[in-house]
Amino acid sequence: MPLLEVSAVAKRFGRVVTARDVSFDVAAGEALGLVGPNGAGKTTLLDIVAGTQRADAGTVVLDGHDVTRLGAAARADRGIARSYQVPRPFGGLTVYENVLVGASFAGRRHSGRGPARDPHAQAWHALEVTDMTEAANTPSGSLRLLDRKRLEVARALATGPRLLLLDEIAGGLTDRELPQVVRLVRRLRDDGVAIVWIEHVLHALLDVVDRLMCLAGGEVIAQGDPHEVIRSPQVIEVYLGSTVDTAVDPAADPASNPASSPEPTEGTA
Ligand SMILES: Nc1ncnc2c1ncn2[C@@H]1O[C@H](COP(=O)(O)OP(=O)(O)O)[C@@H](O)[C@H]1O
Ligand SMILES: [Mg+2]
Repeated sequence: MPLLEVSAVAKRFGRVVTARDVSFDVAAGEALGLVGPNGAGKTTLLDIVAGTQRADAGTVVLDGHDVTRLGAAARADRGIARSYQVPRPFGGLTVYENVLVGASFAGRRHSGRGPARDPHAQAWHALEVTDMTEAANTPSGSLRLLDRKRLEVARALATGPRLLLLDEIAGGLTDRELPQVVRLVRRLRDDGVAIVWIEHVLHALLDVVDRLMCLAGGEVIAQGDPHEVIRSPQVIEVYLGSTVDTAVDPAADPASNPASSPEPTEGTA
């Protein structure tokens, strides 16, 4: 039985269809990549899985339990955590304090079953995994982009998730920073956390994910083996051809590809 089963989900905002008959599974410990043009409905789909948006139709099943009618807090209690496309730390709090907030929710959740977890230990563990211990006492409002992204992951991780939903954590990073994020996501997956990762930086995604799904106009146009998906003519037509074509070809000129290489790399001029 898969950890997450999304079946026939539909969602529209007025006339904008963001999901039409969307179905996919994620196995425990598996990483699924999610790609598609801007406005395809990727973030809304994560919202529907996390419970911050309600689907108009369809079901979301976690570990065999139908959670479709549960709100975001109840789904978090069951082990779903997410990071946001635009990082949302409490800017006035330090990095450690931000992560402690997440860990404290988890402490409450886990207090009913098994030995109580120490939120401080859990927060520190999340900082260690994300390589953020040195920034623990830094006010989160003053972090550079890479650390804001890592803090997003740390906050989600501190809740002890079984399913982690990542929304564009690699965008805007330099070529030197990207491998750190790739290593981090791979480590989480290898630690047994199931992952759904939305990302435009395709080569980073392909370094980690077990399967890939492409959405366009709210519809799944391909899913399966990542390398087969990116060779699908439909995926090339609606997504790769226009926006990130050079991301799959490292030899191509990075300057023509803002999605994969937003900052100039030293020594390439
Ligand atoms: N809360 C909302 N209200 C109205 N329209 C929305 C809302 N959220 C998203 N949309 C619209 O739904 C479409 C899909 O958005 P989104 O899921 O953010 O796409 P993606 O993450 O793939 O870029 C877009 O056209 C967006 O403007
Ligand atoms: Mg989005």
